[in-house]
Amino acid sequence: MSDLKTSVQQQFDRVAANYRTSAVHALGVDLAQTVALADLRGDERVLDAGCGAGHTAAAFAPHVAAVVAVDLTEGMLRQVELLAAERGLANLVTRRGDVESLPFDDAEFDLVVSRYSAHHWPHPAKAVAELRRVLRPGGRVILSDVVGFDNPICDTYLNAIELLRDPSHVRDYTEPEWLAFFTGAGLRAEVVYRWRIQLEFENWTERMATSEVNRAAIRSLYASAPAEVKAAMGISEAGHEFACAVVCGV
Ligand SMILES: C[S@@+](CC[C@H](N)C(=O)[O-])C[C@H]1O[C@@H](n2cnc3c(N)ncnc32)[C@H](O)[C@@H]1O
Repeated sequence: MSDLKTSVQQQFDRVAANYRTSAVHALGVDLAQTVALADLRGDERVLDAGCGAGHTAAAFAPHVAAVVAVDLTEGMLRQVELLAAERGLANLVTRRGDVESLPFDDAEFDLVVSRYSAHHWPHPAKAVAELRRVLRPGGRVILSDVVGFDNPICDTYLNAIELLRDPSHVRDYTEPEWLAFFTGAGLRAEVVYRWRIQLEFENWTERMATSEVNRAAIRSLYASAPAEVKAAMGISEAGHEFACAVVCGV
């Protein structure tokens, strides 16, 4: 296991319960939108890759035959089990695994979904190839995440702020990068939905248990950011915004 993946597990194990109650994750406008985009028949077997506390898996479970929620972090899988029990979702099961080396046979799933996990993946091309490997021919991958900027200075500030908040952050990949990863894995891909999320600074840093010194550094970047960065990220005293996108690959 690479140091980075150990860092993901350490980081998320200690804050797993915060992700079960997080409004951004539990109530995001994109969740219902993603289920609708999937155009489900009801008999699908779905993989949720990097399931976190299970909000995406739980949103899909009532509409499909089965959902397997996979994550690197044991603490997160316990949260998924609590959520599934609370909602009576008997067709939602968990499995520990790495998206870059999935513990499944080829072509096991009709649909693979992944939400707000991919910015932790150090080798996204390898991960997307794995998502495709476990997908039946004609199946789909629907991946959503915070996206980076084509503008270099905005992109640098975004990823610096993300890394200060969470040492297991790798990169908010840009939309063109995602399209290239999908195409490289042999998937025909397009961006099918975009939205923005407002992050309240206190809530956002408390959820990840960010250290006081890093919180101060983020505040300092907020203050020193050039006007174009402040505008692009909606930076204010209260917090900032992220641009997010859903990429669908067939
Ligand atoms: C913010 S949470 C995901 C939120 C969740 N998908 C939702 O919709 O609420 C990010 C998750 O990605 C997981 N993760 C990061 N890298 C991973 C990898 N290589 N393989 C599997 N899971 C990974 C982390 O353990 C963490 O639980």
